[in-house]
Amino acid sequence: MVASTTVKLNTGAEMPTVGLGTWKSKPGAVEHAVEFALKNGYKHIDTAAAYENEKEVGLGIKASGVPRESIFLTTKLNNPDQRNPAAALQSSLENLQTPYLDLWLMHWPAPMTKGGKADKEHDWLTTWKDMEKLFLENPDKLKAIGVSNFSIKFLERLLNEAKVVPAVNQIELHPSCPQQELVDYCVSKGIVVTAYSPLGSDNSPLLANPVVKKIADKYSVAPANVLISLQANRKGVTVLPKSVTNERILSNAKIVDLTEEDISELHAIDKTAHFRACYPDWTGWGSLGFPDCE
Ligand code: A2P
Repeated sequence: MVASTTVKLNTGAEMPTVGLGTWKSKPGAVEHAVEFALKNGYKHIDTAAAYENEKEVGLGIKASGVPRESIFLTTKLNNPDQRNPAAALQSSLENLQTPYLDLWLMHWPAPMTKGGKADKEHDWLTTWKDMEKLFLENPDKLKAIGVSNFSIKFLERLLNEAKVVPAVNQIELHPSCPQQELVDYCVSKGIVVTAYSPLGSDNSPLLANPVVKKIADKYSVAPANVLISLQANRKGVTVLPKSVTNERILSNAKIVDLTEEDISELHAIDKTAHFRACYPDWTGWGSLGFPDCE
């Protein structure tokens, strides 16, 4: 396979394949991480209102001196804001100190109350319709909209009624959670898939996995490079390694081309060592249609 460097969205925009993830990046560390990444060639930054670090991400972008139009910037609508997406969008734009987003995602198909419980009186499909309206009426503020943590079952429901096909579905992807059927479904609908937690998140066993290490040795790279490259080698997939450590931010940008055999071996890890860094049931909405969570 030849790894991609950018992937085209259904809007025509190009999304850089590797972006800096900021889930669990604390205020205080994330500003520097974003500035350092942008100064060292990253052109894609991912955040979310729920990460409570949008302000610092905005400061990091400013500090980098990189022009806004050279950066692909994504943030996400927080679950407790599903009843008022317009106000949430405005707040994210202000926090990030930006006039527009390259991509705005519904973080989960799981409306929640401010108190952190499932909001069973609200339908996420209503939220999607509000997001569509905001997108169609505000091309100066929103370049693309999409979803995150959507299974095939939930995408089918959305696509039955959508006016706007989501540009992206951002989901957890790594060798212990490859979700090939979902990736194939998205690609067949023209939806780009973005991989979060490609390393398996904090203290991941994947970094010490013998198959990952063997392939890393073969290409003289670190295990993290194999895990990030795995996603960059999949058709229609972009990837968000998270780090707040300078050396890792630098080294994580090195992508290698993998063979079909490497990819099959890596995806076989799931058969005996399946896990998710983030199970959907924390939202109070159960499995959200993911077969491995039922
Ligand atoms: P840190 O941010 O302290 O550098 P994921 O991208 O799957 O969410 O994984 C993020 C986790 O992996 C964080 O704990 C991050 O730590 C760590 N990490 C990021 N890059 C590397 C790397 N190249 N080698 C080892 N661990 C890494």
